[in-house]
Amino acid sequence: MKKQQKAIILWNNNLQAAYYHIGLKCDNEFAGAKPGQFVMLGTSKQNSPLLRRPFSIYEINNDDGKTSLEILYRVVGSGTRQLAGLQPGDSLSLLGPLGKGFSFAPDLKDIFLVAGGIGIAPLHFLAKFLKKNEINLNKSILFLGGRSSRDLINYDVFRTLGMGLKISTDDGTRGTKGLVSELLEQRLKINTPQIIYSCGPEPMLAAVAKIAGQYKVNCQISLETLMACGMGACLGCAFKTGNNNSSYPHICIDGPVFNTKDINLDFL
Ligand SMILES: Cc1cc2nc3c(=O)[nH]c(=O)nc-3n(C[C@H](O)[C@H](O)[C@H](O)COP(=O)(O)OP(=O)(O)OC[C@H]3O[C@@H](n4cnc5c(N)ncnc54)[C@H](O)[C@@H]3O)c2cc1C
Ligand code: FES
Repeated sequence: MKKQQKAIILWNNNLQAAYYHIGLKCDNEFAGAKPGQFVMLGTSKQNSPLLRRPFSIYEINNDDGKTSLEILYRVVGSGTRQLAGLQPGDSLSLLGPLGKGFSFAPDLKDIFLVAGGIGIAPLHFLAKFLKKNEINLNKSILFLGGRSSRDLINYDVFRTLGMGLKISTDDGTRGTKGLVSELLEQRLKINTPQIIYSCGPEPMLAAVAKIAGQYKVNCQISLETLMACGMGACLGCAFKTGNNNSSYPHICIDGPVFNTKDINLDFL
């Protein structure tokens, strides 16, 4: 059972539009967090709303034995709205690291990352983690999509990690006008990577999974859903795989990362 802790806010900055970047001082056990794992975070000092909300880990820092956690979030409702109003020094209930993250072979040479909007958060942690583990990312590409340029955040760091960058927006305000899955498919006609990792809205994930299947590329996606407990206790995040084994995995403990061949794409 994961221990609940009080995490102190170090910073809580608006990046642009509804997007925020928060830093939290946390216990040292977070130093072992893996890309794709998530946390359940309280969003107000008064515990109202009562339920913690799930957020992907964007970055873990572990300097001089002091550990801190970074999250990117988009304000969509009451919890994230309250979170955006908090200040450095405020403390929040934190549970984690939770779930199963991305898996990868030690001999990775080329990967494609496909992110939609805030879905860039776990892929950032993944790219930094791979680089730290001496995986050369020079042949790898980030495909990033959003509704408009306002939905594209913190992507320059992928260039500094050596990755290529391909951007699309629905309204054409940055990059190619259209869907990021179309950019991905155009590129797959030229070359296929060892694996695709993706996080973003469900329609995007469904398209990415389908295209990966067509081009026979291994693909892992990080799913998002409403979560009450984050620990397998409330059954709220169970879904039917649709595969013949008739199992009901829980996104919080069996995921949030799944290999697309293990799930029913109609679920998305
Ligand atoms: C594993 C996981 C990782 C996540 N990582 C991040 C992250 O890194 N950054 C981030 O900003 N958000 C992330 N989310 C989504 C985040 O948890 C929700 O946006 C948040 O719970 C909304 O809380 P709220 O109280 O502001 O909104 P609510 O008032 O609870 O809901 C507002 C609206 O948003 C919808 N909504 C709520 N949660 C989700 C969801 N998970 N997917 C789609 N729609 C939703 C509701 O249906 C409602 O329409 C993640 C979710 C999961 C399950
Ligand atoms: S969120 Fe409670 S079981 Fe998954």
